[in-house]
Amino acid sequence: MRTEIIQHDPDSNWENAALRVLRAGGVVGVPTETVYGLAGDATNAEGVAAIYAAKGRPSHNPLIVHVADQAMAEHYALFSPLAGTLSKAFWPGPLTLVLPRRENAPLASAVTAAGDSLAVRCPTGPLNALARALDSPLAAPSANLSGHVSATTAQHVLDDLGGVIPLIIDGGPAAHGLESSIVDVREDVPVLLRPGAISREAIEAVIGSPLAMKDSAGAAPVAPGLLASHYAPRVPVRLDVLPDDVEKGEAYLGFGEHALSRHQTLSASGDLSEAATKLYSTLRELDQRQPKGIAVAPIPKTGLGLALVNRLKRAAAPRR
Ligand code: TXA
Ligand code: MG
Repeated sequence: MRTEIIQHDPDSNWENAALRVLRAGGVVGVPTETVYGLAGDATNAEGVAAIYAAKGRPSHNPLIVHVADQAMAEHYALFSPLAGTLSKAFWPGPLTLVLPRRENAPLASAVTAAGDSLAVRCPTGPLNALARALDSPLAAPSANLSGHVSATTAQHVLDDLGGVIPLIIDGGPAAHGLESSIVDVREDVPVLLRPGAISREAIEAVIGSPLAMKDSAGAAPVAPGLLASHYAPRVPVRLDVLPDDVEKGEAYLGFGEHALSRHQTLSASGDLSEAATKLYSTLRELDQRQPKGIAVAPIPKTGLGLALVNRLKRAAAPRR
């Protein structure tokens, strides 16, 4: 299959091209504010099956459904007052809510891996426009091969899925560079299932109480996708390495004061949001050079650092 890349600009006819593929039960690589997504019509079993097939994603791992607005979300999921507070504060944007799925919601059952909960997000930009134009929610995991480093540019999507999917919309580098934060709001105490582009502190400020945390690394995961090894480059990754402890042949990925000349750094000034935008592209770039391994400097766990460390821990986890 030839993979076409179309620029996301008003003159390119990108929207019609994407809608044509989606209506026919196909999948499209689409930029979002977090990472690039691999989108298919969530109401079309064929479109959803095509997502799992293209990524090589295990079928027990459910997908996030992307809606155009709150009204579309309420068509498919049940909102408590707390859920409504969060969606009002952060949508459109990088927050995913795990909600009770409406019985008889017309979704392909593979979207939820046949479960009774539904992960919903209202994104900004082209993915939102497509859900609106299609008048249907779009299932979209990150547009990388299952278990590999996520994609923050159209080129990353092409590197992983070129020849496998028909179309990629190129909207330039993703603004946040990290996936959405996922909060399970089905119980009274909301649970942060995956730290992401909205900090834990910002979410807690809106709800006025602490989030429960479920760090599923190693344990039996609530979100089946949060398996130990994930976001992984091909070469091994070591964490919390100081410049003096870098081994011969390793590439160093610095942060703040911990840096080495002639090596990369996520942010020389120790800026966590800069580090987030660079994480996946730098891991992919270093991986291509095939060093003995990638050694990463310590990163604080506050703010966006929580999500950065979460991704790096999984990138460093033992491979199956
Ligand atoms: O920013 C993002 O969230 C990106 C963009 C494309 O929107 N999407 C994304 O999707 O990161 P994915 O599939 O790479 O990660 C979604 C995670 C998986 O770990 C999956 O297991 C979890 O969400 N998930 C999906 N549905 C769930 C549910 N009903 N309950 C709990 N976890 C769920
Ligand atoms: Mg992913």
